[in-house]
Amino acid sequence: MPYRADHLVVLDTTSQLYTECAKKIVEYAMNCIKQKGHFSMALAGGSTPEKLYLELSTGALSRQLDWTKCQFYFGDERMVAHDHADSNFAMAKRSLFDHIDTPDDQIHAIPTDADAEICAARYAQLLSTHPPIDLVLLGIGEDGHTASLFPDTTILTETDKTVAAVYVDKLASWRISLTYRYINHCPHAYILTAGANKCEIVKQIFTTDKPEQFPVTGVRPEDKLYWFMDEAAYQCLQQVSPMET
Ligand code: 6PG
Repeated sequence: MPYRADHLVVLDTTSQLYTECAKKIVEYAMNCIKQKGHFSMALAGGSTPEKLYLELSTGALSRQLDWTKCQFYFGDERMVAHDHADSNFAMAKRSLFDHIDTPDDQIHAIPTDADAEICAARYAQLLSTHPPIDLVLLGIGEDGHTASLFPDTTILTETDKTVAAVYVDKLASWRISLTYRYINHCPHAYILTAGANKCEIVKQIFTTDKPEQFPVTGVRPEDKLYWFMDEAAYQCLQQVSPMET
């Protein structure tokens, strides 16, 4: 059974992609704040989201949102210090937190200052004291991973924990990540992907008869799943079967 996204949004350029995705996030956030007085979001790591966070925090949209009513979490983290070049927290700090007035105690970094299993348990404990995160933002790797849900890793079959430590052989490093159990109990998830280097994996995900081989296809939030991509990431799929978008 081929994989299908609830909502697939394709933008001509990467700049338009970031603007459209930022607009969607702000729209949803404003709606959450209007309905219940607060909004929470788990941030994706890697390189793709950095310009999205800058668009959110410094673009025209940034003045529409009451950042003091927002809570920020992370979908995953590398086991490095929070000021390390590879840290997802460091990336979000320079592109988002340093430009908005969300109070520090509403920004929840994944701890990395102890054994990975201990840090994962601490984060799970923190999440258990908060309502489900409204929006989980995710990226995809060229192997179809998302967050730190990598192919052929133990975390993919984790059904009890909401946050788990996972050793990723191909990276020879530990990661901490939200599990499907947690992600799929959140209302919304947005998958953001950009660039020609993601073109092949996007085509494979949407055309294979075994989509379950790619961890990102296991993301099934309670309510809405949006894929946001630019033309560069979509073009291989378009060549195979022009899809309604
Ligand atoms: C991470 C991310 C990871 C990322 C993909 C894509 O910590 O690396 O959470 O899942 O989203 O690897 O990374 P790029 O955006 O750098 O291509």
